[in-house]
Amino acid sequence: MLLLTLTNLGLVAGAVAAAATSLKVVTIGTTPDGTTAPIRGWNSWGTQAGKYLSDADYNEGHVRGICDRLAGDLRGNYRLCGLDSGWSVGDHGDDHGRISYDDSRFDIPRFARYLHGKKLLIGIYIVPGAFLNDFNKTIEGTNTKISDICGATNGLARCRLKYDHPDTEKWIDSNARQFASWGVDYIKLDFITPGSNDNGVDLPPDESPEVQLWHRAIAKTGRRMTLAISWKLDRSKPYFDIWRANADSMRVDQDIQSYSRTPFTDWSRVLRTLGNYLEWINAAVAHEYYSDHHRAGSGGGGIGTHPNLDTMYVLNNGTLSGLSLDQRRSVFIHWIGSSAELNLGDDLEQPDPDGLALLNDHDALAAAGFTANYPMQPRNPGSGGNAWLAQNAWIAGPAPSGEFIVVLANYDDGDAGTQTKTVSASFADLGVSGKYTCFDVFGKKSVTTQSGLSVSLKGGQSVMYRCTRAKH
Ligand SMILES: *[C@@H]1O[C@H](CO)[C@@H](O)[C@H](O)[C@H]1NC(C)=O
Ligand SMILES: *[C@@H]1O[C@H](CO)[C@@H](O)[C@H](O)[C@H]1NC(C)=O
Repeated sequence: MLLLTLTNLGLVAGAVAAAATSLKVVTIGTTPDGTTAPIRGWNSWGTQAGKYLSDADYNEGHVRGICDRLAGDLRGNYRLCGLDSGWSVGDHGDDHGRISYDDSRFDIPRFARYLHGKKLLIGIYIVPGAFLNDFNKTIEGTNTKISDICGATNGLARCRLKYDHPDTEKWIDSNARQFASWGVDYIKLDFITPGSNDNGVDLPPDESPEVQLWHRAIAKTGRRMTLAISWKLDRSKPYFDIWRANADSMRVDQDIQSYSRTPFTDWSRVLRTLGNYLEWINAAVAHEYYSDHHRAGSGGGGIGTHPNLDTMYVLNNGTLSGLSLDQRRSVFIHWIGSSAELNLGDDLEQPDPDGLALLNDHDALAAAGFTANYPMQPRNPGSGGNAWLAQNAWIAGPAPSGEFIVVLANYDDGDAGTQTKTVSASFADLGVSGKYTCFDVFGKKSVTTQSGLSVSLKGGQSVMYRCTRAKH
């Protein structure tokens, strides 16, 4: 049939545009560590990169003061006190070659006890491999030398581990046991390949076995420790399947930091991150992770791992963050919508009242409770497609109850100022139908509609709606 042929070739533009593809509801489900929500807290790297936390101040006394703010200003809504690079001895391990803390900076077991006493969590940062300087030490509980499990340097003062050597697993196990005995809650494993290739060091092309070994080692300790992997991870198969079966979160792209003191970041870096999230969620849909049948790891259906969009900048004012208040609200909306880890990169000791109000907003935190299981996916206004657009729409859910979340955004540069645009997504575009009452999470007002949502947004502004079935 001629018409069918033309349609298949995409030549009948009207017919193609009119038929939005059906919505595949994507869930995260339970991650490998057995949790059902992404972690929330703070990571030190933003302030380290911005030099607000100087090398001399990167120690327990200062970081304790910073993380006290998680329990104070942030009311325990954000619990992770995440130490990034620099907490450990950088060029050798302990007597068995295990990663050890730099005791001129931190006593990790003591700091963990302190944080746990405030109902907070402690995170640490590691990179792959055993130390080149430890080659003559033996792996705990064995007669095997570190040199036996090691190949060439990986460019990080460490070796490329021999994943096929049986005692490589024992070295990783010995580290995981030690972290568990210290009370560690969260491990960021950086420089994982394939993905993190163009970084100036000398990583082997495929470190995915290292992620599998760390997951197994953590499970063997019996302590729940979240495994977050970084930084620009390959989203193709089979790697995405390995990440989601072994890691609780995976970074979607390179660092968001500007690496200058002020500001921490800028809108273009936020948009680069969001563009990478769009590719990540589209890959998850293309890999059919919405279907139980394709589930790789533990638990029920779903992707099985959270995206990590790097740290978010919401707390500090525009001078420090490089973002207007509208843009900071947009960051918060998108990090929540993505089911991303909600880790702040801000300087917690310079809170801005507007930033605190955003971060402690009860309705925003409730929305994050919903998106913990339902990451948003793009549904383009006018077509229901999944491309990146300067004015775009996203949907998270619906849940079996019918509830869903919609994000509408105008990504034009807010500083350029002027670009107010109307962003409209019909329920057909979004892939849902029916009559819903939609609550504007930050605008604090509701609208009941069976056609869709439409809003006028300045550049850099976004709005998040939480929609439930209308009573009549
Ligand atoms: C290991 O021991 C050998 C033999 O004693 C020595 O030559 C080598 O430098 C040592 N390597 C390290 C990293 O200590
Ligand atoms: C932003 O906060 C910093 C630190 O508190 C302060 O020095 C600066 O004046 C503030 N900028 C504005 C525009 O309020």
